[in-house]
Amino acid sequence: ELSRKNKIYEINREAALFYYKNLLKKNSPGLAYLKQRGLEESVIRRFGLGYAENHWETLNTYLIRKGYDQEFICSAGLVLEKKTKDGFYDRFRNRVIFPIINTTGNVVGFGGRALDDSLPKYLNSPETSVFHKGNNLFGLNLAKKEIGKDRKIIVVEGYMDVISLYQHGIRNVVASLGTALTKPQGEMLKRYSDEIIIAYDADAAGQKATLRGLDILNELGCKVKVIRLTEAKDPDEFVRRKGKDAFLEEVERALPFLDYKIILAKMENDVRTTEGRIQFVKAVAALLKQIKSPVEVDAYIKKIALESQISEEAIKREIFGNHMYDP
Ligand code: CTP
Ligand code: MN
Ligand code: MN
Ligand code: MN
Ligand code: MN
Repeated sequence: ELSRKNKIYEINREAALFYYKNLLKKNSPGLAYLKQRGLEESVIRRFGLGYAENHWETLNTYLIRKGYDQEFICSAGLVLEKKTKDGFYDRFRNRVIFPIINTTGNVVGFGGRALDDSLPKYLNSPETSVFHKGNNLFGLNLAKKEIGKDRKIIVVEGYMDVISLYQHGIRNVVASLGTALTKPQGEMLKRYSDEIIIAYDADAAGQKATLRGLDILNELGCKVKVIRLTEAKDPDEFVRRKGKDAFLEEVERALPFLDYKIILAKMENDVRTTEGRIQFVKAVAALLKQIKSPVEVDAYIKKIALESQISEEAIKREIFGNHMYDP
């Protein structure tokens, strides 16, 4: 079992090297693509990015020539057997390749991006004996060395967000690989950091994933904050357009868990109407019920009372029930 896994790691490493060499070939469409997206060669090398050429069987042929078993090559998820059972073909073709490397330095899987608008935009390795999408954080192998004294880590959605921020000198960044954050990913984050800042895409999917991630991290007992991007669709676009300092300002201004939830509650309820104010306060009261620190609760009660024009007394009763004021 262990030797089987090691074999797959070995094949993955060979494949990553193969893709990397293809990327650096003359007139490589992959390199042109990454350059056009603004990436420097040093960063391309640091992440070991690659290119899968637009052919059906070049990787398979290469790996077979290197002496690897067809069965292992297939179980690494790199090559598939034809339906007609009379041959094999490479999974990744005409795509830029992002190797996913775990914290021990093994290549566990790959993401491949189309060079144009063809779908799917990203193709990933399938689940294999060494790759479980929800158990990995892209970039953690590099980010873990950059967590720093404040032990902050930023979580983004995508490969390009991590790499682009890295190039701009912001290196405590990992990607949850598009999926909403999973519990195992949350546990990894908790192990490496004391504060987690979610910086997902500005679209509806990103907002939904933010809420889900917040709840998971909160349940794990993590200190978590949220960046709401408004001037760009994702961190990659933001940092390219506005630069490092502007992004770091967003990090400084990131909203604590409760503030973010309160903003959402306010957006969902029209506080100009009586019904809206009632629903807003009820939603926030339900949140405050979960908070253990009396000081924190008190501070938020004051804030909510102001925003809703409902008395602090009534909000307290909504949170704690009437009994606590009984003699
Ligand atoms: N993703 C995926 N499969 C898809 C789409 C997305 O696995 N079909 C994952 C990828 O890890 C991707 C992340 O979700 O990086 C975020 O998706 P999206 O925001 O659509 O892509 P970007 O990372 O912004 O990619 P790009 O900037 O190249 O368009
Ligand atoms: Mn060729
Ligand atoms: Mn997205
Ligand atoms: Mn993007
Ligand atoms: Mn995106």
